[in-house]
Amino acid sequence: TLSTTFLGQTFASPLFNASGVRCFDKDELNSLLASASGSLVTKSCTREARTGNPEPRYVATPLGSINSMGLPNKGYGYYLDYAKAHDYSKKPLFMSVAGLSLDDNIAMVAAIRDAALPAIVELNLSCPNVPGKPQIAYDFDAMDRMLAAVSAEYDRPFGVKMPPYFDIAHFDLAAEVLNRYPAVAFITCINSVGNALVIDIEREEVVIKPKDGFGGLGGDYVLPTALANVNAFHRRCPEKRVIGCGGVRSGEHIFMHLLAGASLVQVGTALQEEGPGIFARLNAELAAILERKGYASIDEVRGRLKTL
Ligand code: DHB
Repeated sequence: TLSTTFLGQTFASPLFNASGVRCFDKDELNSLLASASGSLVTKSCTREARTGNPEPRYVATPLGSINSMGLPNKGYGYYLDYAKAHDYSKKPLFMSVAGLSLDDNIAMVAAIRDAALPAIVELNLSCPNVPGKPQIAYDFDAMDRMLAAVSAEYDRPFGVKMPPYFDIAHFDLAAEVLNRYPAVAFITCINSVGNALVIDIEREEVVIKPKDGFGGLGGDYVLPTALANVNAFHRRCPEKRVIGCGGVRSGEHIFMHLLAGASLVQVGTALQEEGPGIFARLNAELAAILERKGYASIDEVRGRLKTL
């Protein structure tokens, strides 16, 4: 009942990691591979390897997490080598691409194209944590230029990782841009709620070191915002699929994302905190909800949300 197809590939479960979480190197990726996840996605990569921002740069709180990692990654060649060695009969693999410039994204997707793999590209338009680099998806002209260039260079369907929006006019404008690009086959909603501030009152201090403590929120803080973004793009982009991401730590949360319109669902903060064993638990919790409600497949649930 948990199996589904997405971009022509079969997924035994709709669940996988949110990019950035437990996917930095081969050891972490292999742990995801060995887990009950339906897929896995690699850490957002840049052309060159990066060490990222100073630590502490991720902190969990009672309601979620805050991070400002700063795009530490091993460089796209490392993840492309992993994708070349991957056994696609085990589970599908996504590659997250987060170039620091349009030219960098073009160079990376050209190399991925030339490798001719079944790996699926998730183009990250929403990293909030590199000082001096605004989130591309908050600048609709920059987003349009990026998608025009990547669509022209890359010859396969790909997806985009989007930041949360908080205004109906922004949902309309973002969807209008995405709908100009048929190669954009899926939309992952949402990246972290950027540039929030968590404060420790005993120490009278911020909790992470980069950017004076400002960082992206995940976890319980973001679930309703994630659901709104999933549903907003599901309604506005009927030709595309939506991947839900944000605030998932139970089967009920996954079911909410499916109702809102998600085809697959990613797990971030809860995976970071609980480890890859979370996927077996979440699969069981989701299967129990489907059984109780009489659904034979997750595909029956997608977008079934009723309004009043
Ligand atoms: C990082 C954070 C993000 O939210 C993202 O999309 C990419 C990178 C980071 O800080 O490493």
